Amino acid sequence: MPEALTKEIIEKAKKNLSCPSQLFIDGKYSNSITEKTFDNISPIDGKLINKVTFSQPEDVNKAVAVARKTFESGVWSRSAPAHRKKVILKFAELLKKNGLELAVLDTLDVGKTINDTYTADVPGSIKNVRWYGEIIDKVYDDIAPTPYNSLALITKEPIGVVVAIVPWNYPLMMAAWKVGPALVTGNSLILKPAEQSPLTAIRMAELLAEAGLPEGVFNVLPGDGPITGKALALHNDVDCVAFTGSGEVGKKILGYSGQSNMKRVQLECGGKSPNVIFADCENLDTIVKVSAKAIFGNQGEVCTAASRLIVQDSIKEEFVEKVVKESKKMMPGDPWDPSSFMGAIVDKTQLDKIHGYVEQGKNEGAKVATGGNIMLKNTGGYYYEPTVFDNVKNNMKIAQEEIFGPVLSSITFKSAEEALKIANDTSYGLAAAVWTRDINKAHLMAKRIKAGSIFVNNYDEADLTVPAGGFKQSGIGRDNSYHALDTYLQLKSTWIKLADK
Ligand code: NAI
Ligand code: MG
Repeated sequence: MPEALTKEIIEKAKKNLSCPSQLFIDGKYSNSITEKTFDNISPIDGKLINKVTFSQPEDVNKAVAVARKTFESGVWSRSAPAHRKKVILKFAELLKKNGLELAVLDTLDVGKTINDTYTADVPGSIKNVRWYGEIIDKVYDDIAPTPYNSLALITKEPIGVVVAIVPWNYPLMMAAWKVGPALVTGNSLILKPAEQSPLTAIRMAELLAEAGLPEGVFNVLPGDGPITGKALALHNDVDCVAFTGSGEVGKKILGYSGQSNMKRVQLECGGKSPNVIFADCENLDTIVKVSAKAIFGNQGEVCTAASRLIVQDSIKEEFVEKVVKESKKMMPGDPWDPSSFMGAIVDKTQLDKIHGYVEQGKNEGAKVATGGNIMLKNTGGYYYEPTVFDNVKNNMKIAQEEIFGPVLSSITFKSAEEALKIANDTSYGLAAAVWTRDINKAHLMAKRIKAGSIFVNNYDEADLTVPAGGFKQSGIGRDNSYHALDTYLQLKSTWIKLADK
């Protein structure tokens, strides 16, 4: 990967780009058995990128059969951890070698800026995959403290055939977060990318093959949710579904598991994260910058987006004024321009959804402090202005539902008790932040907010060594860290009777 991006480098990479389009089963690309395709549109300009294989239930059956056969063969599932490590580390190396191409594919596919894909998503994905490659020959099993004449081995086995269903907001990275730990533990995997973002997932298959992964261990089925995703999640020979996306679909996946074979389900389902600012916080200007970035970064299409600004009444006026000013520096621009802060919204549906929420917020009586408009219509693409709502009540739709766009809802509080109540008054529990100089208050808030990640005097510190996931309806299980391995492994207890002769 070149050190820094220039317009010339980007243009050259775009010119040399070829967009992959087919499903991948048993080490080979092919069309659907039914020959069905769907249109893959770029939100940058609303134009067709390519026609992509639309995987049907027949293709799902084929992919699951292949993944099962490969798993039972032991070619990967029973191979030495040191071998799996070698292949996964090679895969990380190939991600790096092809990093610019992968960044360009993701930008084209979902309209996020090339700066984001190149400097954050691709390096983040590489780091993640490499970390799981490195960990696998360093984890040990256990022996339990049983009575002297017996021996109980507690061992971890790969769960079997895993399906990963991933979203479009970080196409490569959300796939990498599941692919690394699922593969390195010895499972066979079927990856289903979102219909908005199939390109890097399909390309990944080739890179894994080049890294030496045996045929049939990794399969990719591009397609939609209701047909492709549903058939996978309902399949009786799939052992686990690892999902990132909306809560609505997360609940469906749980249902599919219950209706079929009780397969394990891991869910990461978004949030409505509170960003609580106390009047005794330090350095308001920095907090404003961080808070604006935490809602407008990646166009607000982030599961941990700081979408509820919960600010103490004595500093509310000043804070909102500063956030509005900051938002003007974060206007959407050409995603191919390395200096753009925001790019395009993923598709027309999501753009309309965002705008619908903004209209709803106005109708419910919240005040638009800035923004509220669709932008850059002349591009043919889908862009939205950073938007700040003032005078929001926590029971309004714009404070309760995940908008997944650049829309901030500002709510005020008087006491810490009230801040806590508002912060927890949500069906979600993914992330939360507290800004204060009072260490006591910081700790107590951190203990009592119901969320998987709490940020004290920061927002979105993140590292793959730390688990990410949610309380309440934000999900089940965790991505990242060695805890992510729990999704893809199952415990076996083996009792050995020691006959004392
Ligand atoms: P979605 O939840 O419908 O899509 C996520 C993935 O699930 C995609 O791969 C999709 O094809 C698949 N899927 C959809 N329906 C399915 C079904 N019945 N069975 C199996 N798989 C299915 O998300 P969508 O519609 O793209 O976005 C809607 C909202 O979801 C967003 O506005 C946002 O609020 C939320 N979202 C949250 C994400 C997160 O990171 N937690 C990521 C993407 C969306
Ligand atoms: Mg697309």
